[in-house]
Amino acid sequence: MSITGTRTVSSIVAGEPREDGRRIESRNPANLDEVVCEALLADASTFVDACRAAREAQPGWAAVPAPVRGRVIAQIGRLVEENKEPLARLVTREVGKPYPEALGEVQEIIDTCDFFLSEGRRLYGMTVPSEMPDKQLFTFRNPVGVAAIVTAGNFPVAVPSWYLVPALLCGNAVVWKPAEYTPALGDAMASLFLAGGLPEGVLNLVQCDGPAAYDGIEEALEEGLVDKVGLTGSSAVGAKLGELCGRYLQSPCLELGGKNPLVVMPDAELDLAVEGALFSGFGTAGQRCTSLGTVIVQESVHDEFMRRFTRAVEDAPIGDPFEEVLYGPMIHERFHERFLDWLELIRDHHRVSGSSGIGRITSENPRAGFVGDPEIGIYDHPTIVDGVTAADEIYRTETFGPIVGVASFGDFDEAIELANGHGYGLSAAIYTSDAGPAFRFRERVSAGMLSVNNSTSGAEAHLPFGGNGRSGNGSRQSGVWVLDQFTRWQSVNWDYAGKLQKAQMDVAELTGNHGFRLAWD
Ligand code: UN1
Repeated sequence: MSITGTRTVSSIVAGEPREDGRRIESRNPANLDEVVCEALLADASTFVDACRAAREAQPGWAAVPAPVRGRVIAQIGRLVEENKEPLARLVTREVGKPYPEALGEVQEIIDTCDFFLSEGRRLYGMTVPSEMPDKQLFTFRNPVGVAAIVTAGNFPVAVPSWYLVPALLCGNAVVWKPAEYTPALGDAMASLFLAGGLPEGVLNLVQCDGPAAYDGIEEALEEGLVDKVGLTGSSAVGAKLGELCGRYLQSPCLELGGKNPLVVMPDAELDLAVEGALFSGFGTAGQRCTSLGTVIVQESVHDEFMRRFTRAVEDAPIGDPFEEVLYGPMIHERFHERFLDWLELIRDHHRVSGSSGIGRITSENPRAGFVGDPEIGIYDHPTIVDGVTAADEIYRTETFGPIVGVASFGDFDEAIELANGHGYGLSAAIYTSDAGPAFRFRERVSAGMLSVNNSTSGAEAHLPFGGNGRSGNGSRQSGVWVLDQFTRWQSVNWDYAGKLQKAQMDVAELTGNHGFRLAWD
């Protein structure tokens, strides 16, 4: 299968492509002349139709034994593996992610399938002792029902798989809305999943924009067609969707923004810390929820760290994502526009470094050593902003682009305050060669994920992924932990005493001498 050339993609409801919708073009952000595909963007009513199709298909899918559902997941994983390179190339073409990272992103789907295919043979419940004789207690995991999943375009295939794979394995039907600027990838993913053997209606794809998805979810909730909402997106959208779900007594799975700190202790191996900061700050052009927000560096090593970090950023190759580069273009024009807004947060007391210019890379505003032609794509200069303090707006604003703040601290308490003070709590890193600060940081940092001597991004696919505070509502994805998002516990008691036994009332009498004391001094 080769995914090349211009084609029109659309929503897929109950296995059928939809022919209605507003036509848009998806362009390669590294080469705006290249149309990756055209797409028909649906409205809220298509979203609701998709939820209806999912509702209808779900009981049949839930009745398929979980190990057999696991075999379908295995088939999907193998198909993704067979299509790894064309899918990764499409990731690079549609969102401009450097090809090695795109391959890694596809690998993350394969890893996720490999993890969950056996979960179909586990999905363990418990046998629990009863407080009464001739009675047994059990717990079962039941599928939630219909899951409506909304994902962002920065991880257009890996992050959706974190929802789709466990949701499907657990016996749910899914309605998935990818980002409206990654329609080709939405289509490619859905096609791979459907080819893996999912029955009609079990996975539905809705290509639409955010407002249409919001309206569709609202209507579907009102009609009782959706049982779980999952969102990877901004904290603002998460709060809005969380409020909507709350009205229907639902707790969504929310994976939101971050302002991820990387603390550099005086005993840190500085070159390692620089390497970590470079990758987590500027990999994917800073467009990861786990991207480094602020380096928090102890003042005794601040100047040396800055000297090495600035040089590393200045020397990093940026440009054509099919070449060997640290990062490629911004995902879409709108990410570039927001990046320009964040540059406005730079104040007079800040010291800016990292490139031969600031803002968009063009022939008038060139980047030394740029790989390729900056004029044909949407490329931004890497920007280091030193001298950040807790009072600065940039300190507490998630800046989804190639910009990294640097703050310094004196004592450890100050480092903790800077790491937590913005209210986000997704990912954090500390560089130190001593176990003491690492474990003290772990105890006190608000982040849901911590790296010691490693970057803030690059979580492994089977560890709990998620954050606290402004980064989410406490839900966790990946590994066994996500099963609690896509199943509900059912407890069962089975009484074979042949008479009504009343819990808490038919209490067993104990013998024993409460006044007994040892006669030893
Ligand atoms: C995201 O940006 O939404 O840990 C997810 C990482 C990636 C996932 C990031 N595996 O950085």
